Amino acid sequence: MTVHIGAKPGDIAPTVLMPGDPYRAKWAAETFLTDAKLVNEVRGMLGYTGTWNGHPVTIQGSGMGMPSLSIYANELMTDYDAQTLIRIGSCGGMQPHVGIRDVIIAMTATTITSPSSGIFREINFAPCADYGLLSAAVNAAAGRATKTHVGGIYSSDVFYAERPDLDEEMVRHGILGVEMEAAELYTLAARHGRRALAVLTVSDHLQTGEALPSEDRERSFGDMVEIALEAAFTE
Ligand code: HPA
Repeated sequence: MTVHIGAKPGDIAPTVLMPGDPYRAKWAAETFLTDAKLVNEVRGMLGYTGTWNGHPVTIQGSGMGMPSLSIYANELMTDYDAQTLIRIGSCGGMQPHVGIRDVIIAMTATTITSPSSGIFREINFAPCADYGLLSAAVNAAAGRATKTHVGGIYSSDVFYAERPDLDEEMVRHGILGVEMEAAELYTLAARHGRRALAVLTVSDHLQTGEALPSEDRERSFGDMVEIALEAAFTE
């Protein structure tokens, strides 16, 4: 047990998928895992462990934003020895060629600040995905009907942004989408020598204003979960 995770030692698998929404953790565990059992419900941040194709997998909610994800990812890495951590979540599309329902595999994650900014001081650290996971995810996405993009994303501190100029700079520099967690996950993985990746579904679009209707969400999010699981267990 840790401060924020009630699971017993051994209840957390070496491979952890991390959606922001605890109810998405429940849905993904019930939909994709065999014999999923609830291993954490501290603060309602649900976590489940089961198997996928015989491999043990935990799906643990991270909450929204980097400070929340940082708590869960730190405890998963240092107290439960999680080795492979894949964020599965939604993002806002930032380029005209990125459509809603598309999947983004995040090679890098740009930030203004993150919970790790304090330790880097004058350094602009470049949080990046694990290359093996990234290339396995690209292969897992190939041949699916869902369009996939690979590139940089922006991990913002705010959902309700008051600085449209920042979004414009991200768009101008080719950033594919905006979310609020991946940069800190990549940074913690680098610090602790673990593998990390973010596989995201575009749920809304900053330029077109389109948003995924709630009834479409499960079907679209399914591809993202399958890509993450296949990538995690590609040798
Ligand atoms: N901004 C930040 N995070 C998000 C968004 C967004 O537009 N959509 C989904 N996650």
